[in-house]
Amino acid sequence: MDKVALFPGSFDPFTVGHESLVKRCLRLFDKIVIAVGENSDKKNLFSTEMRMKMICRVFEGESRIEVTRYSGLTVEFCRSCGARYIIRGLRTAADFEYERAMGQMNRKMAPEIDTVFLLTSAEHTPINSTIVRDIIKNGGDVSMFVPAAINISEYLGK
Ligand code: PNS
Repeated sequence: MDKVALFPGSFDPFTVGHESLVKRCLRLFDKIVIAVGENSDKKNLFSTEMRMKMICRVFEGESRIEVTRYSGLTVEFCRSCGARYIIRGLRTAADFEYERAMGQMNRKMAPEIDTVFLLTSAEHTPINSTIVRDIIKNGGDVSMFVPAAINISEYLGK
């Protein structure tokens, strides 16, 4: 049976930290579904379509990766796409409490699904999408924080 993992997130935008995590997970799972969560409460910089397009560009030609979107509960989406694992990255202790609560509550709702946490590589620890968005909004260069395949100016304002 194929080991399918869901990598859910806002990915606004997708960063080198996310890219590195997915590449490492290709060694652990047969298939990875990268799913852009649609959360109406969040004010996004990039539309869901643009975020999906960016991620597709990064993993062009990688047949074991699927890029999609979802709304509603992550565990329900896992069930609908046959994923038994949820992938989350941990950068710092500050991430941990939020991730612990989410992981444990997801597990209560769906005991058959496990969350797998990977520590991000040391060089990616400070990189987060919120700060990348702020740099973009203020006209800075984010090319070192996003995957080489993403030219951020192509996606702005769409
Ligand atoms: O990249 P993010 O913003 O940290 O991703 C958060 C995300 C999308 C994984 C989280 O908000 C989520 O799972 N949302 C879907 C709704 C849900 O399942 N909520 C209960 C989690 S215990």
